[in-house]
Amino acid sequence: MTTRQHLGVCYYPEQWPESYWAQDARRMREIGLRYVRIGEFAWSRLEPRDGACEFDWLRRAIDTLHAEGLRVVLGTPTATPPKWLVDKMPDMLALDSMGRPRNFGSRRHYCFSHEPYARECDRIVEALARAFGEHPGVAAWQTDNEYGCHDTVESYSRAALHAFRKWCANKYGDIAALNRAWGNVFWSMELTRFDEVALPNLTVTEANPSHLLDFQRFSSDQVVAFNRRQVEILRRLSPERVVLHNFMGAFASFDHYALGRDLDAASWDSYPLGFLERSPRSEAFKTRYMRVGDPDFQAFHHDLYRACGRGRWWVMEQQPGAVNWGAWNPVPAPGAVRMWSFEAFAHGAETVSYFRWRQAPFAQEQMHEALLLPNSEPNEAFHVVAQVARELQLLDAQVAIQRARVALLFDYESAFAWAIEPQGRDFSYFELVMSFYRGLRCLGLSVDIAPPEPAALAGRSLIVAPGIFTARRELADAMMQSGAVVLLGPRAGSKTPDFQIPSALPPGEFRALVDVAVRRVESLRPTATIGVAGASFVGWREFLSLGEKAEAAIRSDDGEVALAREGRSYYLAGQADDALLATVLRRLASEAGLETIDLPEGVRIRDNGGMRFVFNYGRDAEDISAIIGGAALLMGERLLEPCGVAAFAREPQ
Ligand code: GAL
Repeated sequence: MTTRQHLGVCYYPEQWPESYWAQDARRMREIGLRYVRIGEFAWSRLEPRDGACEFDWLRRAIDTLHAEGLRVVLGTPTATPPKWLVDKMPDMLALDSMGRPRNFGSRRHYCFSHEPYARECDRIVEALARAFGEHPGVAAWQTDNEYGCHDTVESYSRAALHAFRKWCANKYGDIAALNRAWGNVFWSMELTRFDEVALPNLTVTEANPSHLLDFQRFSSDQVVAFNRRQVEILRRLSPERVVLHNFMGAFASFDHYALGRDLDAASWDSYPLGFLERSPRSEAFKTRYMRVGDPDFQAFHHDLYRACGRGRWWVMEQQPGAVNWGAWNPVPAPGAVRMWSFEAFAHGAETVSYFRWRQAPFAQEQMHEALLLPNSEPNEAFHVVAQVARELQLLDAQVAIQRARVALLFDYESAFAWAIEPQGRDFSYFELVMSFYRGLRCLGLSVDIAPPEPAALAGRSLIVAPGIFTARRELADAMMQSGAVVLLGPRAGSKTPDFQIPSALPPGEFRALVDVAVRRVESLRPTATIGVAGASFVGWREFLSLGEKAEAAIRSDDGEVALAREGRSYYLAGQADDALLATVLRRLASEAGLETIDLPEGVRIRDNGGMRFVFNYGRDAEDISAIIGGAALLMGERLLEPCGVAAFAREPQ
């Protein structure tokens, strides 16, 4: 299936005089925007008092946008319950892990387990869907806004406690099974009834990791269930509209694949400079890329959310200028907003929508730039967006993403687990997976990020699975049957689903692929490294013993097995630095029959069907003739300037 690609914008009619709307809509159309997301924070205007809905203004806003041919993405307003509602049921507020309420006065101040609040959400969503579900201008819905933002997945409220006890009873059936799974004999934590189960907060020292993991799984299930209620209402009352949710970057506190299964398409909010500021990358790296963002961060999420949307995804909020929430908030380099937009399209985005139309002169985000200044004059991005719209039309871009030959597995449960038990202060599952992604991309490879499920493995030449918490038998079998070169990374298969060390030692069931046993592990402070093949392990390393069928492919300088091999499967016994990753991945890609290119620093590639895109995140112009060969460029130049985008037609591999 091929789909045209479009631009959009986030708009807040309730924040502006109605006299602005028609002109705003006209200007949106004139610069080539097609989608307008509205409404997601407007509950206090949609229902100023309990039961007194005032939808007329929203109808006029939708009509105004529709009259210009714009297509509306209508948000459900459940991320911002209004004051009267909080006062009506004060225990709907989430409690943080210290037991303190997350008070009214910003947003996301609700507990996912609070049933009366969920019913209020059903009510407002249903009323909106009845009013606008079949409006010809409404093309899509966004449920809520950024589930989990501001650390709001977990709540330690009474509602959460009761729901968690039920969840545990459901999962384990009898309390002895829970005691066994959690290992509660340790420190006399044994329970006799499910109503003795507590939430894992306010304990003297760390809570039991099995308890914490189940609480995270439960909290994730609550988010998915909360969303599903809205989706069911929207599907019933607003047929044929695309139902989306806007996910976040570097965020893995609930299972986004599970939530994505209920949506038509995933979307995410891409703020390259804000995310770079928040990342653990070095000061030098942050300074180098401060105006363009990490060259791999955006792409990683594009590929991840394409998986969450089962092929369909958008950028719902694209950074257009400086944001207000980084430690420092620089403006983007000239050309950066354009490059980010085309990069999303190269990864198959159906729509790239900018946040936001006009900068608000009031409240929390008044320092956040937009396409327009607060006085409605164009800001830099206004012109950039108009240019992207023109170029997009010329390019006649289509979503034509094909299954990539390389799959990098990303697993939410592993993210939960290693956040609970990092074992080294800076160990991060997200960063571990990201390092492999970066390594693959630096070799010019297009990558699919995929869930650790057998169906994701078919048709791959190279499967990379770092840090997968549990080696499930069917995943190990599917890896073996795939015929692909498989790279298992550090910590893969190192626990059972109950969060215990497998009796056969790690990597558990993955030993069927590579016959090794992980006998010991060590985490390393940032100043300590282990030399391996002229490069290093950093942060984490494991001591392997080889079974009969495995051999050492690479040894560390101190004689330990750094990379073990059995047939076409490998096990990497540590967290590799960029140089070691390059060595290992180049070797495995070549064994998998994949063509690699050593890209200049800052240059990246993405294939989209018969088109190859090249991006320059670097500071200098780069000659990319070696990448293009004899092909004719559809956009860009052979000497690709900083923030440059080039595209050319090419036989899909
Ligand atoms: C997102 C959020 C928006 C806005 C934006 C600012 O996280 O969805 O509502 O706050 O950040 O960058």
